[in-house]
Amino acid sequence: MKIKNICCIGAGYVGGPTMAVIAKQCPQIIITVVDINPERINAWNDKNLENLPVFEPSLAEIVNKTRGENLFFSTDIERAIDEAEMIFISVNTPTKTYGKGKGMAADLKYIELCARQIAKVAKQDKIIVEKSTLPVRTAEALKSILDNTGNGVNFQILSNPEFLAEGTAVQDLLNPDRVLIGGDVGSNDGNEAIDALVDIYANWVPKERILTTKVWSSELSKLTANAFLAQRVSSINSISELCEKTGADVNEVAKAIGMDSRIGPKFLNASVGFGGSCFQKDILNLVYIAKSYGLNEVADYWEQVILINEHQKNRFSNKIVSTLYNTVSGKKITFLGWAFKKDTNDTRESAAIKVANNLLNEQALISVYDPKVTEERIYADLDYLNSRSEEENRALLKVDNNPYEVCENAHAIAVLTEWDEFKTYNWQQIYDDMQKPAFIFDGRGILDMEYLKTIGFECYTIGKG
Ligand code: NAD
Ligand code: UDX
Repeated sequence: MKIKNICCIGAGYVGGPTMAVIAKQCPQIIITVVDINPERINAWNDKNLENLPVFEPSLAEIVNKTRGENLFFSTDIERAIDEAEMIFISVNTPTKTYGKGKGMAADLKYIELCARQIAKVAKQDKIIVEKSTLPVRTAEALKSILDNTGNGVNFQILSNPEFLAEGTAVQDLLNPDRVLIGGDVGSNDGNEAIDALVDIYANWVPKERILTTKVWSSELSKLTANAFLAQRVSSINSISELCEKTGADVNEVAKAIGMDSRIGPKFLNASVGFGGSCFQKDILNLVYIAKSYGLNEVADYWEQVILINEHQKNRFSNKIVSTLYNTVSGKKITFLGWAFKKDTNDTRESAAIKVANNLLNEQALISVYDPKVTEERIYADLDYLNSRSEEENRALLKVDNNPYEVCENAHAIAVLTEWDEFKTYNWQQIYDDMQKPAFIFDGRGILDMEYLKTIGFECYTIGKG
């Protein structure tokens, strides 16, 4: 079966870039990305490409080329479902904030709503593709909803988890390490559906990198991949604390172990802690699933990855307080960066939020500069914590769009995101305008501390004794 028309439900960080790249690589396929949020759809349709809701290097150029040709953004969900032969579900699957599994399990209400809407609208057979990250065996629940609506349509469900990382989404999509497609390998219809999706990716991904598996393996591989990646960060972060006590240098240790081909060099950058919408959510979900099968040792093992990450964020804010003579009350602390990593405007679970909250509890006055994150977003992140009133958050934390002004009169600067531009600032000028002693806390290990020390800064880098 050759797919000619695709619908993607969910126009977020995954749905938008993924569909833009498929549209670019497959001009013969019409793709409609739909969302219940009309503001998001308007932003995707905005003539001014600066206003796209997702910032990713090279994304605007691709959207500019494909939008209105074979890529469309719309709020008419029913029509897009009706016209498509293949429907990607790419809605959010956040951690549950209520009821059974609160704070651990994935909230599948948006997924279920999609399934019910598809079931209601579909009049012809369709292939449903799980693009969202889902607990293992979700396909079973989807199938049950879709098959019980009584309109005689045959649905095939595939799992096709997305492995892109934010900030490199377009590159990751154009040149993926692998594409994973899980389906009902035991049946003809299942294999036909798998082949239809393989054919789409085969337009630009070498066949040997397209992996097909049982649907349960595919669902579980996504949670496992994120757990392993996050585990590496927590592992090196745990060692960073030991380095600080012993005089070892975490970068040297990371390099030494990373050259072992069995370990490999990637994901060994010690940091203030991992953030992002995926790692914590997916590990919590894995822990919840393990517990639900009574596998308590398995659950405890993976939970430790999250606990170390929390510890790392707290350790960083504690270090700032203790270095500033055990009080930051009334002192200006400047944050360079708020996003959870560079080259994205996404702040979900960013370490900056937790570090800011800890310091605000100590009555610090925080000023933030981030090249891509808006003031509105920063306040929304803080307000969401419910730690203090919205007025207090605005009184204690200011957002500035000039990196030099934001550092003026600061007692300390903390680097929370590894934006490249921070490396090339005029640090002498920044030093001259700060309170003395001028402290700098590099939570990302990106600044040249030897140079900064010659200017006169008091420096702290994670993992250096
Ligand atoms: P997101 O919040 O940016 O986007 C999800 C979109 O779905 C939102 O715009 C929301 O309005 C829309 N939506 C929710 N319910 C809907 C419904 N019933 N009908 C229509 N639209 C609906 O989320 P995201 O970051 O794109 O993540 C989506 C999924 O992909 C999640 O399961 C996530 O775990 C997974 N994932 C994310 C990343 C990442 O880097 N962000 C990477 C890999 C996988
Ligand atoms: C992650 C996975 O990498 C991706 O495959 C999956 O599809 C979604 O989740 P993402 O969260 O976008 O991607 O970014 P990633 O590059 O994995 O970084 C996650 C967090 O870990 C960031 O806060 C990053 O700064 C931090 N990190 C990463 C480190 O602190 N050290 C490292 O060595 C690597």
